[in-house]
Amino acid sequence: MQTRWTVAKDRSDWLQRALTHVHAAEHEALGRAGAFHIVLAGGGTPLALYRALAQEDHDWRHWQVWFGDERCLPPDHPERNSVMVRQAWLDRVGIPAANVHVIPAELGAEAAAERYTQTLAGVGDFDLVLLGLGEDGHTASLFPGHDWGEAADAADALPVFAAPKPPPERVSLSARRLARARRVLFLTQGAGKREAVAAWRRGERIPAAAIQPPGGVDVLLDREAWSES
Ligand code: 6PG
Repeated sequence: MQTRWTVAKDRSDWLQRALTHVHAAEHEALGRAGAFHIVLAGGGTPLALYRALAQEDHDWRHWQVWFGDERCLPPDHPERNSVMVRQAWLDRVGIPAANVHVIPAELGAEAAAERYTQTLAGVGDFDLVLLGLGEDGHTASLFPGHDWGEAADAADALPVFAAPKPPPERVSLSARRLARARRVLFLTQGAGKREAVAAWRRGERIPAAAIQPPGGVDVLLDREAWSES
């Protein structure tokens, strides 16, 4: 499985490269199927990309938005990934509400994971999966020492308990489901991620490295996160 590393010159270059990935994936998807299924990363790094997308003119009716993970918090909690994405982007564009598939994490991890797995049952491979990278090598809400859902029979969505990054209870797409994608792009910035990048490049088993789609993955970094080792 190929991992393609790209170190951006600066924040502007980083953002332009991220947008280029999204545009290419959208173009391919609309040309092939007339719909664009994108999985969004949580956390803070992707927000610059989401804000930039909010300034663009797309035919949002063809976009189907999924979430790679969600925190088990009330639906309107400011630290919900879905709330952060809506504020940065989705509430600012005319995407149909039915096209935004929020993980119902307020139901609790078990019930929400089951519900989201059912919702995904009829959905094919994603066109683009966006992922973040944690300082411990986690991605989505797949954390070291937990089950990452790599097995062929792993559920599409997993309940997560005792997550080291608060809140402790979460829902995450499994490594297997995240890898059912035509394109996977990791969005990484900051010196805090350098050790995770170094471990990844040394071939260590971290959750991010367990995401292995047929077409390989792209990792977009800034200089601070990059590690030559
Ligand atoms: C979350 C995210 C998580 C995030 C990484 C990186 O719910 O927190 O899904 O996987 O992507 O922790 O977070 P930052 O981009 O904020 O560093």
